[in-house]
Amino acid sequence: MTTSTSRRKVLTSSAALVGAASSTLLIPAQSQAQTGKIRVGLMLPYSGAFAPLGVAIENGVRMAINEQGGKLGGREIEWFKVDDESDPSKGIENANKLVQRDKVDVLIGTVHSGVQMGIQRVARDSGVLSLIPNAGVHAATRSLCAPNVFRTSFSNSQPTLALGQTMVNKGHKKAVWITWKYAAGDEAFEGFKESYTKAGGTIIKELGLPFPNVEFQALLTEIAALKPDAVACFFAGPSGAKFMKDFAAAGLKGKIALYGSGFLTEGVLQAAGPAADGVMTTLHYSDSLDTPRNKKFRLEYAKTFKMQPDVYAVQGYDTGLLLIQGANAVKGDLSKKPDLYKAMQGAVIDSPRGKWTMSKTHNPIQDMYLRVVENGENKVIGVAAKALADPGTGCKMG
Ligand code: PHB
Repeated sequence: MTTSTSRRKVLTSSAALVGAASSTLLIPAQSQAQTGKIRVGLMLPYSGAFAPLGVAIENGVRMAINEQGGKLGGREIEWFKVDDESDPSKGIENANKLVQRDKVDVLIGTVHSGVQMGIQRVARDSGVLSLIPNAGVHAATRSLCAPNVFRTSFSNSQPTLALGQTMVNKGHKKAVWITWKYAAGDEAFEGFKESYTKAGGTIIKELGLPFPNVEFQALLTEIAALKPDAVACFFAGPSGAKFMKDFAAAGLKGKIALYGSGFLTEGVLQAAGPAADGVMTTLHYSDSLDTPRNKKFRLEYAKTFKMQPDVYAVQGYDTGLLLIQGANAVKGDLSKKPDLYKAMQGAVIDSPRGKWTMSKTHNPIQDMYLRVVENGENKVIGVAAKALADPGTGCKMG
């Protein structure tokens, strides 16, 4: 090593040390940040199978914040966006783009449970405020829960825990389950299995395909041969429409009852057309909830974004509402973490889905509605589970 290279090395490493020290120790930079813009990061799918879900969530978040004059706790906002492509292999890297590179004060994301595991890791390591506007992966509010992570959507087993009893009540006692084989589908199955078998139903077969495959044909042929009373499933996004259309095209519609967690029919009713008619689902939202809150939300959303809102838009909107409540409680100073978390933990969200509260493990305690598709709408026909809470098993807030 020559003297000059070794000196350069020493200089580089001492510069790195100063850099490391300043990012952790320079308190003035922090407090200065509290008077500037709040940096809000959106990590959502803007391409791939869940792209429309990401767009609906962003719309909802922005709508809630725009209703407050576009500010959070009196502070302006600077937005940062990353397309996570629903690709779990890039989850950590993408979350770090927002946390390390863009230095966001809050990370809002995401849709896909596998990608969420990457965000959860980064949120736990960095302590950044992390709001989950969809992904239902159990660990996020169970074994890997964290004081700085709040979910405004659902846990994966919540919708299907409300499904089993309804199916048995309708006389459908023999079912086939079908889903994408990844955390969201597997955990939705946990809820379905528990509720359906407890109600006296029998699951005769579990079928699956990898996310985001939509080659349903062979599986539908297998279902036809099995002749169950009903099929229950978890699919979401445009692929859900394709599943319902393929189910009908395979001649199963009208012969075998089709049920699902309500994501199946969210945002896709136009695309699915008559294939969706009569499909029964359970979910924490329904288009037709006859409340002034929901009607006003739907009208405003349609006017602003020139499209109809769905559950994802509602979840995004509620994420905005939660962030507003937190930021207001600390007058925009998000560095006041104990006060911020306390306000968010105790928040009552006056949502288009109905009022909900946050569980101790930071997951919504909420009603699950029974819905049926009628005339291109998810019509509510009852409450399938009242104030349903996730058990939060294994959560230690630390
Ligand atoms: C998930 O991956 O957690 C997920 C994705 C889409 C949904 C629901 C859950 O509609």
